[in-house]
Amino acid sequence: MAFFTHHISRGLSSSAVRNAVIKHVTIIGGGQMGAGIAQVAASTGHSVTLVDTSEDILNKAVKGIEGSLKRVVKKKFADKPEAGVEFIQKVLQNVSTSTDATSAVQSTDLVLEAIVENLKIKQDLFGGLDKVAPAHTIFASNTSSLPITDIASSTNRLDRFGGLHFFNPVPMMKLVEVIGTSTTSQETFDSLLNFSKALGKTPVSCKDTPGFIVNRLLVPYMMEAIRLHERDLSRCPTSITNIFRFIDFCSNPWLCLSPSGHGSKEDIDIAMKLGAGYPMGPFELLDYVGLDTAKFIMDGWSAMDPGNPLFGQSEMLNKLVAEGKYGKKTGEGFYKYK
Ligand code: NAI
Repeated sequence: MAFFTHHISRGLSSSAVRNAVIKHVTIIGGGQMGAGIAQVAASTGHSVTLVDTSEDILNKAVKGIEGSLKRVVKKKFADKPEAGVEFIQKVLQNVSTSTDATSAVQSTDLVLEAIVENLKIKQDLFGGLDKVAPAHTIFASNTSSLPITDIASSTNRLDRFGGLHFFNPVPMMKLVEVIGTSTTSQETFDSLLNFSKALGKTPVSCKDTPGFIVNRLLVPYMMEAIRLHERDLSRCPTSITNIFRFIDFCSNPWLCLSPSGHGSKEDIDIAMKLGAGYPMGPFELLDYVGLDTAKFIMDGWSAMDPGNPLFGQSEMLNKLVAEGKYGKKTGEGFYKYK
């Protein structure tokens, strides 16, 4: 069955054939991304050790993987439910868990990090693991926005360090961005590229630039949607400035007849789904990704390139995050989920 076989050396260039085949992967962080990557890696016959800070989190992650696999087999093995049960058992046998990252990396081909989006914490983790992981082991980060070069700087394996950026939900999303820094060796890059293919994903090669490819385009688009909506709300006379703005708008009768001329969030979401064919509107997507994550990315980018209008701050986003309204995960963001 295709799910259980590695075809890593099929159709590779001669330099790629030389690269190391990744059989065992240690995934650090069993949250939504780490658990999803573990599921896909185990489903494609890799041995996986999933590491997090507590047994509770790990049990939840494995339960989540089992639940997700059940949904997969319902479709894939609709006429052969027994084969579906066997499939789930085989996949789960490929997953072990640990709360001790140091021992989990003693014998592994790849350490893939999917912990909190914080440079210092990621550097501390990799700096420590660098001292105990075997020399051949490749390190990779799933960061959405931090420079891979900065994360790698805490280690002495700059040639064996790269980025593997997966998309949420991992079992459904086909893309993986493979990021090479100026010091990532060709062998390491090829190994990461081929590992992504062995997971059944389609990899694209990226440079270590802010947001790589997808987020560099997607995040400014989502921020522009918020600005469009903010311009709409600026007609509401809640402050002196807005009263003047409101009077200004009212001097234009067309605008007065069209109170959501710049777009309510609902209209913007519908417009992008029906007009651009996007599966989710920008506000739905922001709530799904997490407003805290979106703000974290924007803060980092605006600090790096303060003059760039694409990276400008949004009052509305900042306010929602300050109120703890992070989107789906907290029950409220731009929309309510309770
Ligand atoms: P999450 O909050 O769901 O999971 C993070 C997990 O890491 C938690 O279970 C936490 O207990 C664990 N953790 C934190 N510090 C740890 C440590 N030192 N050792 C072991 N475990 C530790 O976060 P999520 O959404 O899975 O994101 C993880 C990474 O993936 C972040 O860097 C994020 O930017 C990136 N990412 C997130 C995407 C998303 O849509 N959520 C998409 C692509 C990348």
